[in-house]
This record gives sequence, structure tokens and C-alpha cells, in this order.
Amino acid sequence: MRTHAVSVLAGDGIGPEVMPEALAVLDDAVAPHGIRFEWHEQPWGSEYYRRHGRMMPTDAIETMAATDAVFLGAVGHPSVSDVETLWGMLIPIRREFDQYVNLRPVRSFAGISSSLAGDPEIDLVIVRENVEGEYSEVGGRAYRGTPHEAAYQQALFTRFGVQRIARYAVDRARERSGRLVSATKSNGIIHTMPFWDEIVAEVVARDGAELELESVLIDALAARMVRAPRSLDVIVASNLFGDILSDLAAGAVGSIGIAPSANLNPERAFPSMFEPVHGSAPDIAGRGIANPIGQIWAGAMMLDHLGYPQIAAQVEAAFTAVIGAGVVTPDLGGSASTAEVGAAVRAALA
Ligand code: NAI
Ligand code: MG
Repeated sequence: MRTHAVSVLAGDGIGPEVMPEALAVLDDAVAPHGIRFEWHEQPWGSEYYRRHGRMMPTDAIETMAATDAVFLGAVGHPSVSDVETLWGMLIPIRREFDQYVNLRPVRSFAGISSSLAGDPEIDLVIVRENVEGEYSEVGGRAYRGTPHEAAYQQALFTRFGVQRIARYAVDRARERSGRLVSATKSNGIIHTMPFWDEIVAEVVARDGAELELESVLIDALAARMVRAPRSLDVIVASNLFGDILSDLAAGAVGSIGIAPSANLNPERAFPSMFEPVHGSAPDIAGRGIANPIGQIWAGAMMLDHLGYPQIAAQVEAAFTAVIGAGVVTPDLGGSASTAEVGAAVRAALA
């Protein structure tokens, strides 16, 4: 019996609703293979914040470091500022564990029509830089409270940081179609983006000379995502561009409720973190209608990362079949509950 300890942070809103479904699916998926998960469930998030004045305890990072992976639901509550929830929990985990890759697969499903013309079949991955770039702590406010008040925020790109995300994207492109698109804006952002372009081109020339590399301006790339998504396969992008592009892609193919993401430390010096793309959805929380597929798919990505790509593929096949059969939650036009979708995925696995 192989055991994997996983830190489970169900979090806020619909997080605690979709998480149990994913845990049950993962338990069922690994059981026949002599593998067992040990779920270390932590009560961290906005409720914890109300009682303790912080999103998670001071030793949270050490506690999680002793486990093989972090499985996160969602954080965010109308009563706590998003700056607090994001910078008190998600960002510290991503940065302390050097999860510099945010990997977001996007694909279309039979049974869900996309909002794109012609409803094309889509299958692409976005490799988003996850720890630097535009989401930096460098900046501040000046002349507070005066008519001259000003705010500035400094994007921060390091050679080391761009090199390693480009290298990761090169590896993914080599495994897939051999095509790599790099998102840029070197015509408008004239310092950091030419630097990004230069380093991506260097890495591709050295480690992926056989790849077809295209550098595309982010505005044109957004339009292309909508007009010709099948011309895209692996996209490497900075923190901000990757964030926006992946929500655009996920939204276009159906519901944000199915999209997963992995925050990876490819060197495995620290645990990686797996989470759905969606947030805590306070507008539907407590009603048992949240779509659990994003959480379940994130769980499949965790299986893959832990060394079980075949079991991950079985889980993906199971929820793909369930979506195809029309057992879906209201965000996808169905009438199934969160628990019914979870049960259907487990049945499809068996
Ligand atoms: P959201 O993703 O929570 O919701 C956006 C819309 O999508 C809502 O109408 C919601 O009902 C729907 N939706 C989201 N997930 C769904 C699911 N699984 N099934 C069915 N419908 C679903 O984004 P929003 O409203 O901008 O943010 C709400 C809170 O979540 C905020 O506090 C925000 O900061 C936080 N947030 C947290 C994230 C995380 O934990 N990684 C990511 C995004 C937002
Ligand atoms: Mg986002």
C-alpha cells in the first residue's frame, strides 16, 4: 500500500461543497491500485480569519511542507477583503513553495456548447508564470488623501524567472504539438516585454530548436483565442497575461466551474498545489448546486503529478462521460446537484 499525505484546504463558499466530491472520487480512483490518500483537512480561510485575525496559522507552511501536495477549494468571502484572502493564503503558498508554474489545461466537451463561433473542439494548455511579473509587491502610494494622491506598481521580471517558465513550456510543447506561442506586449510595455521575448527565444533556441515559436501580442492573442482557438496549443505567458487569457479560454468553452489549475514546483523541492480556477462563488454557496468538475479535474492533475497519469486519465474519462451524458449542474444548463454529479463520476469510474 502506497500512502500519500495531502493537505486539504477546502476554504470558503462553495469550496467545502465541491471538495468532498473530489476527495471521494480520488479515494475510489486509487483504491484498486493499492494506493491510499491520507487527507490532512485544515480549517483555514475566511472563517478562521474571523476568529484568529489571519487566514492560516503562522506554522501553516511548515505543516503543509510535510505533505506531498496541497489540494485547495476556494478562498474569498464578502466579509473579508480580497487582498487579505489572496495575500494571506494563496500567494504565500505559491511563493513559499516556489510554485512558479501555473498550468491550466482548457478543453471543450461533448455536451457543452462553447460560446465560440462554430463551437470548435479546443484542447490547449496555458503555462502561466506564477510568482513574479506584474503581481509584485514593489510599489506604493504617495501623497495619500491629497488631490495629488498617486499609486505605482512595479512589474518585476528576472532572467532566472523567465528562463525557468520558458523551459517548462518548451517541455510541454515538445510532448504535445511542437508549437509554442509566447504572449507578449513588447510594442507597448517596452522594458519588461522585450526582455521576456529575448529570453523565451534564447531558451527555445537552446532547448527546443525543433519547436515552432510564435511571439504574439496579448491583445491580438485574445482575439485569436476567440476567432481561431484551434491554431493554439501551448501558450506561455506572464502572470497577468496568463491569468486573463486562461479565464477567457475557460469561459469560452463553457463554465468556469469545470476549469482546473495546478501550481507546480517542477523540481519537487516543495509540495505543489492543485485547485479549480473558480473562486468561492458566494452567489450560489450553500445551495448544493456548485459544479464539482473543476475540483475533480484539479484532483486528476494532482494524480498525474504524484506519478499516476493512467489513474488521472481514468478520472478524466469518467467526468467527460458524465458531462456527455448530460448529468450536469445548472451552470452548464442541467439540473443535477453537486452530490449527484460527484456520485455519477464515481459510478462512471466503477
Ligand atoms: P467566482 O469564480 O467565485 O464566481 C464567478 C461566477 O461563476 C459566479 O457567478 C459563480 O456562481 C460562478 N461559478 C464559479 N464557480 C462555479 C462552480 N463551481 N459551479 C457553478 N458556478 C460557478 O468568482 P468571483 O465571483 O469573482 O469571486 C468570488 C470570491 O472568490 C472573491 O472573494 C474572489 O476573490 C474569490 N476568488 C478566489 C479564487 C481562488 O480561491 N483561487 C479565484 C477567483 C476568485
Ligand atoms: Mg483568474
